[in-house]
Amino acid sequence: KPKKPLRVIISGAPASGKGTQCELIVKKFGLVHISAGDLLRAEVAEGTPNGKIIKGFIDVGQLVPDEVVNNMIVDRIKATEAASKGWLIDGYPRSASQAAALETAKIRPDVFILLEVPDELLVDRVVGRRSDPVTGKIYHMTYFPPETEEIKARLTQRTDDTEEKVKARLQTHYANVAAVLSTYTDVIKRINGDQPKEVVFDEISQLLSSMQDEAEEEPKAA
Ligand code: AP5
Repeated sequence: KPKKPLRVIISGAPASGKGTQCELIVKKFGLVHISAGDLLRAEVAEGTPNGKIIKGFIDVGQLVPDEVVNNMIVDRIKATEAASKGWLIDGYPRSASQAAALETAKIRPDVFILLEVPDELLVDRVVGRRSDPVTGKIYHMTYFPPETEEIKARLTQRTDDTEEKVKARLQTHYANVAAVLSTYTDVIKRINGDQPKEVVFDEISQLLSSMQDEAEEEPKAA
């Protein structure tokens, strides 16, 4: 049966597990993943003048200005909807003005997932994180070590993944999160992110599956 395309926003503090859960959600639900952080890092990697500006903000843990981020995300969402596909946004909106930009564009999620993880665990998660540039997969040197020596040798670490920088990122997060949440009070689902990643995913998966079932059961308009 064709399923309704879901529209999902996933949010949470730095290193709360958004990217990790997105990998799993995309695999099971086939949504188009739109990650603000990944798109910005891709721009930095290209070394464009815009990329240099973006890098300056990322490296101090501050939000990249709206004029760079808003169009980038809104255009992707519109293209995804035009192709009748569901989307999964990670890392956007991150401020009151970004949430307002989505509202203005009449883009609303079916659900806003908030991953909750105690602050004291986040530094450890950040410092141990590595990414595989070949597959894009996210690892942790202690919790999810690479499967082979070959993968281990090619892993990279983000320049903003230091203890000092994650503290700045957390401050930015706390300065903005309340305003974002207040836009989505009707669709927020809080998930305990301090559980094994498979357990976190089970909860998210049940939630999204039940939303798809509900959509299917809706009676057709006469
Ligand atoms: P972004 O890339 O979005 O970074 P972030 O929000 O800080 O989130 P992370 O990517 O660090 O973490 P995550 O939640 O995805 O966790 P992960 O799954 O990797 O943004 C970076 C920067 O870009 C910002 O600071 C800003 O400058 C800019 N930016 C981004 N969006 C912007 C916007 N909208 N506007 C303006 N600027 C913007 O997991 C982390 C680690 O924990 C991994 O090692 C993982 O293996 C491990 N882990 C995951 N789940 C578990 C678990 N259940 N148990 C144990 N370990 C786990």
